[in-house]
Amino acid sequence: MKKDRKGIILAGGKGSRLYPLTKTICKQLLPLYDKPMIYYPLSILMLSGIKEILIIVSPSQKELFKGLLGDGNEWGIKIKYAIQKEPNGLVEAFIIGEEFINGSSVALILGDNFFHGSQLSEKLKKINLQNRNTIFAYPVKKPESFGIVEFNKDGNAISIVEKPSNPKSNFAITGLYFYDQSVIEKSKKVFPSERGELEISSLNQMYLEEHNLHVELLPRGSAWLDTGTFDSLQEANIYIRSLEKRQGLKIGCPEEISWRQAWINDDQLKKIAKKFPKSDYGDYLINIMKNKDKYNL
Ligand code: TTP
Repeated sequence: MKKDRKGIILAGGKGSRLYPLTKTICKQLLPLYDKPMIYYPLSILMLSGIKEILIIVSPSQKELFKGLLGDGNEWGIKIKYAIQKEPNGLVEAFIIGEEFINGSSVALILGDNFFHGSQLSEKLKKINLQNRNTIFAYPVKKPESFGIVEFNKDGNAISIVEKPSNPKSNFAITGLYFYDQSVIEKSKKVFPSERGELEISSLNQMYLEEHNLHVELLPRGSAWLDTGTFDSLQEANIYIRSLEKRQGLKIGCPEEISWRQAWINDDQLKKIAKKFPKSDYGDYLINIMKNKDKYNL
């Protein structure tokens, strides 16, 4: 029987560009408008249909994450934790996660990446069920700062270069990756780059050489936002606030996602909501339940 795909959120790193905010608390636990940042990538995995998730954190932060998210049982999912001692690069996630992955396919999302867009969850659900290695590209104004993918004239990806001085396109590879079972074996073959990191571009290059990597373009109306600097964090806050205020619907609310997918029932959602009696968050959970026939979005 085919095993369900597992998910990993990589939430370590230094967060040096956000210092001193990140002196004692890591970036992924900071607020992104009305929720901790980690809620958003966690929601993306849940929207993809992934229920078993490993969160990789730096040593000093493990208890804080556990305090926030627990074992996931309340939300109808399973959460485990692992430590990355030093930020040695994204590929290390698969080496640290080997036991957790245990022969399944896997999706990795970076703990500070924000994705949003119409039809995104339908797209992710499909990709999760396919057995195709898939990464996502998004047009950016300054390609020199990203991992950039080059396409041939048939629209197939032919190379991925990390922070190119002479970019071959303006399509950046985002922080969400769906890989097959061979990812661990491939990860172990990646050598550290000049900056001393196990680069995800090297891993993607291996898949490309096997003609075994699909690059999905995120449509123009979608958002992939970075939250790594003071300005980009603020811009992401404003984006979320604007949409939530206008529509009255929350972005990245794990309880809602779980309930809408019938991973938890009304009683379980009510029980969670009762824990936040004076907050807008608790009211929201009660309201979506009351209006379930109105907004089945
Ligand atoms: P980065 O933004 O590259 O690094 P950072 O978060 O440490 O920030 P700064 O550049 O300001 O020091 O990392 C992207 C995401 O990946 C972020 O969520 C942290 C995470 N990460 C790890 O968990 N381990 C790693 O080894 C690396 C390189 C990143």
